[in-house]
Amino acid sequence: MEKISEIDLSTTLAGVKMRSPLGVSPHNLDKPWFPGKKAAELFKKYIDAGAGFIYIPAIVPGKPSQAEKNLDFATLFGSQQYVGRWLKIKVDGKSVLGHIYTAKNLFNFLPWAEELMQNIKPHLPPDVPVVAQVLVHDPDPEKWARHTEKVASLGADLIELNTGCPVGAMGHIDARNLPPEAKWGMLMGAAPEILLPVLKAVVEATNLPVGFKLSPEVGYPKMLHLVEESVKIGIRYIVTTHKYFAVAPPDIWHHGVGKFPALEANCLADFGGSALRFSMYKATALVSKHFPQIDTFAGGGIVSPEHVVEAIMLGASACQTLTGIVSGGIKLLTRTNEWLDKYMRKCSYAKIEDFKGIGLQHLRASTEAQFYYYVAQPDLGLCTGCGKCAESYCPAISMQKGKPVVEARYCSCCAMCNFICPVDAFNYVPRS
Ligand SMILES: Cc1cc2nc3c(=O)[nH]c(=O)nc-3n(C[C@H](O)[C@H](O)[C@H](O)COP(=O)(O)O)c2cc1C
Repeated sequence: MEKISEIDLSTTLAGVKMRSPLGVSPHNLDKPWFPGKKAAELFKKYIDAGAGFIYIPAIVPGKPSQAEKNLDFATLFGSQQYVGRWLKIKVDGKSVLGHIYTAKNLFNFLPWAEELMQNIKPHLPPDVPVVAQVLVHDPDPEKWARHTEKVASLGADLIELNTGCPVGAMGHIDARNLPPEAKWGMLMGAAPEILLPVLKAVVEATNLPVGFKLSPEVGYPKMLHLVEESVKIGIRYIVTTHKYFAVAPPDIWHHGVGKFPALEANCLADFGGSALRFSMYKATALVSKHFPQIDTFAGGGIVSPEHVVEAIMLGASACQTLTGIVSGGIKLLTRTNEWLDKYMRKCSYAKIEDFKGIGLQHLRASTEAQFYYYVAQPDLGLCTGCGKCAESYCPAISMQKGKPVVEARYCSCCAMCNFICPVDAFNYVPRS
């Protein structure tokens, strides 16, 4: 294999260079008393850890109230019910599935974003762009356009519309007949008739590249129609997923009450982390495959360096994570860059472009793929004789003298035994 001396981790998104393909997803700081200056200190840690880009999250029009200016959380809590809650969900008693977050209001006003920009600018390397997020609690395209002009004047490199935010939808236990003015975030992102005029107005209002964040609520194939129309309008990139809109499980040992810490009800909520990863791969692959003229910014469920490579192989230009740095710490950024360097040397990829999208050539509809006429064959050297493979509904496998026996005429090579077997003892081989 060719030995690579120089590894280039840089990538470009909508024509903007990034020194590395991974950074932190936008996150409203969930603590309204957190001033812009303090946010800049946090974001500097992301830069020092090797982030490829920085986000200014959810900038809304308007001005802070006196309480917000005074950063008095007690007054804010009383007057605006600004709350976020995290909930740990475990699967099979071990793996953490993700997190749930709920809030009733969002407010990163322009003065906050200005303060943040002023304080972060001196620390920004030239190849660490700033993505500024625009969010208006209103479907009026004109309001989005005017607000975008102001956000663009902050000196950001990319504009992103936060049109997947589930927070607004959390305020409606039945959102069937909402008036358009109540539709913002996810409710707008899943309503193309509202979203597309907004995208058009925003693209016309700025010279910066504009992207938007898909809501997983759009679903397939509506997602593809939406992206197709937005590409015609001039959108340059898509962020693959916001969080799932969700209902958290009730507490079965306490009469079905909610499980959030310090929250009285089981509120409508949202899920991030590993629960999102496969939805992210779906959007990354399908958007990249069908719309090569725009870039895909993969976000949702990325919690390890391998996930970054997987997303890039499915066509992503860059990747973002939030749960990854919550569960793995900010150092996940450093670890990922180091891991990528080693991985790329091992695979003889000198630059990100060398493996970007290479998985897409293998992406096919199941009706176009060739299924081999194989049969399951247990490796009896590996098999521990636990019998699990014969305990499900497979008609072909039975235990005989403590070992699995496959009756070939009933085996369709469905690979269920592979899924069940704790020691991966099953192979699939051509039928004799
Ligand atoms: C506390 C919190 C605040 C968030 N704030 C924003 C935000 O302001 N804008 C946005 O687009 N997404 C926001 N998100 C969503 C994340 O950017 C990301 O899309 C989501 O967590 C899924 O990615 P993950 O699986 O890597 O966590 C927020 C998520 C959390 C948990």
